[in-house]
Amino acid sequence: MLRLDRIDVSYGRVQVLFGLSLNVSAGEIVCLVGRNGAGKSTAIKAIMGLLQISSGSIEMDGERISHYPPHRIPGLQIGLVPQGRRLFSELTVAENLEIGLMVRGGGRNVRQRALEMFPRLQERLDQIAGTLSGGEQQMLATARALCIEPRVLLLDEPTEGLQPSMTAQIRNAVLQLKKQEVGILLVEQRVDAVLALADRVYLIENGRNLRDYSGREINDTPELLIKHLGI
Ligand SMILES: Nc1ncnc2c1ncn2[C@@H]1O[C@H](COP(=O)(O)OP(=O)(O)OP(=O)(O)O)[C@@H](O)[C@H]1O
Ligand SMILES: [Mg+2]
Repeated sequence: MLRLDRIDVSYGRVQVLFGLSLNVSAGEIVCLVGRNGAGKSTAIKAIMGLLQISSGSIEMDGERISHYPPHRIPGLQIGLVPQGRRLFSELTVAENLEIGLMVRGGGRNVRQRALEMFPRLQERLDQIAGTLSGGEQQMLATARALCIEPRVLLLDEPTEGLQPSMTAQIRNAVLQLKKQEVGILLVEQRVDAVLALADRVYLIENGRNLRDYSGREINDTPELLIKHLGI
C-alpha cells in the first residue's frame, strides 16, 4: 500500500537518508527503529510531503506521491501522529478533532469512533488541549489522526514519556486499527513496546536500511535489536 523506494533526503547540503526503502501493507504493523538521529522522523516527514526527496520514490497504492504538496497527503488517508504531539494547544479537544474531520469531511460518527478508543477525551471535549496531561495529549493527537479515517497511520514515538497504562492504551488503539486493516508505521525506541506488536521491523542506521526482521525473530531474540540500539 505505502512504499518508499530508495529515497534520499537532505537538509540543505547535509544528506540524512541514503536509499531508504520500506513498505507497509493493509493490516500490517511495521516498526521503524534506530538510534537517535538515525533518520526515522525524517522518513516520516518525507512521506507527509514536508521534505522533498532528491532521489527514489514514495508511492501509495502504486500512485507516485513524492512530489505532492503536504496538504494533499492527508486526503490520501495517510494520517500522522507527529513526534512531540504538536496539537493546537490553545484550542479545545473538540476543536482539535474538528480540524482532523475537515480533511475528509468526516461526520459525527467518525469522531465518535475515534473517541471510543479514548474515553478520557470524551469527558474533556471542552478542555483546552494545552492543559491536558502528556498522556491525554498523546491520545488527542492519535484521535485527531483517526478523524481523517486513515488507511495508513504513521506514529512517531507515540509512547515517548508515557507511563505503562497510557502506553497500553496507545498499543490497544494500534491493535484495533490493525483489525480494521489500517497499515501502521510505528517509530519506536522501546523494544518492549515494539516486541508485542510488530509484524515486521526495519532497523535503520545513519539513514540507511541496516536489517529487516520479522516480528517473530524479534520476539525470539530481542538482543538483536538491543545490541544495535545501544539500550
Ligand atoms: N530541520 C533540520 N535541519 C538540519 N538537520 C536536521 C533537521 N532535522 C533533522 N536533522 C538531522 O537529521 C538527522 C536525522 O534526524 P531525525 O529527526 O530524522 O532522527 P530520528 O531518527 O527521528 O531521531 P530521534 O530518535 O532522536 O527522534 C539528525 O542528525 C538531525 O540532526
Ligand atoms: Mg524522531
